Amino acid sequence: MTSPRPVRTAVFPVAGLGTRFLPATKAIPKEMLPIVDRPLIQYAVDEALEAGIEQLVFVTGRGKSAIEDHFDMAYELEDTMEARQKDKAALEGTRLAPGQIAYVRQQEPLGLGHAVWCARSVVGNEPFAVILPDELLIGTPGCMSQMMSAYEKVGGNIVCALEVAREETRKYGIVDPGETDGALTEVRGLVEKPDPADAPSNLMLPGRYILQPQVMDILKTQGVGAGGEIQLTDAMASMIGTQPFHAFTFDGVRHDCGDKAGFVNATIDLALQREDIAPVIRSFLAKLNI
Ligand code: UTP
Repeated sequence: MTSPRPVRTAVFPVAGLGTRFLPATKAIPKEMLPIVDRPLIQYAVDEALEAGIEQLVFVTGRGKSAIEDHFDMAYELEDTMEARQKDKAALEGTRLAPGQIAYVRQQEPLGLGHAVWCARSVVGNEPFAVILPDELLIGTPGCMSQMMSAYEKVGGNIVCALEVAREETRKYGIVDPGETDGALTEVRGLVEKPDPADAPSNLMLPGRYILQPQVMDILKTQGVGAGGEIQLTDAMASMIGTQPFHAFTFDGVRHDCGDKAGFVNATIDLALQREDIAPVIRSFLAKLNI
């Protein structure tokens, strides 16, 4: 196989309403909620940059301007910190190169598929990645890097897929799996939010995708699917059979930070990995006697 076309752009759909996290998300974007001291969106951006992504496209909506500010220059803050000789290391990674980030607006939250389609003119006719920042995937290297290595080998479309309990299939896009070779499984079909009894497997899609640009043409005319939303899963399903399509089993840990329990788990997990605070957290947890 000739080398697949490089993936240079990542799309971050961040226009959702975050209703599961109300009232916290009434005025603060879900993607700005911090795990320890970094907002979720920062983890997602770092994961993309580690994977060699050059261009970041945020699909935003009303009330999401804090995300733009986060990756902007904070002149007063930086100037004051400098004048007071404070260490600015904590701001590392929050300012990207000029022109490296583009923002497009999704005027109505019509679904993930619609959000991705809103990025079409920035993505252009190239393969691209999609990263959902509320799914925190921790690995070494990161999930998108692992997926890029797999993409170098097989090209086409690759979705990250992880096993969940059967009864949870109704919350996710689910893979109909074919042959497996190591971490790669052929995708024969994709179904959005199936009942456990109808689900073709328990392999769910945790929000990391490498997609060929043809998906944008499909999304253009696609109607609503499960939950009355324009589903990315349905558009991807239409490409199966016309292009290589694989599910990739990520080697690492997943925290669903769009969910309250998942968010708290992520906070504990990452806090325990931080040398500066782990001893205090560990002794607190020990006192809880759980
Ligand atoms: P979710 O299904 O988690 O929806 O979206 P949500 O609105 O963020 O949260 P809840 O369910 O109301 O609590 C998955 C991802 O797709 C984005 C979200 O921002 C999130 O990153 N999304 C979803 C959009 O950008 N636009 C949409 O219309 C829907």
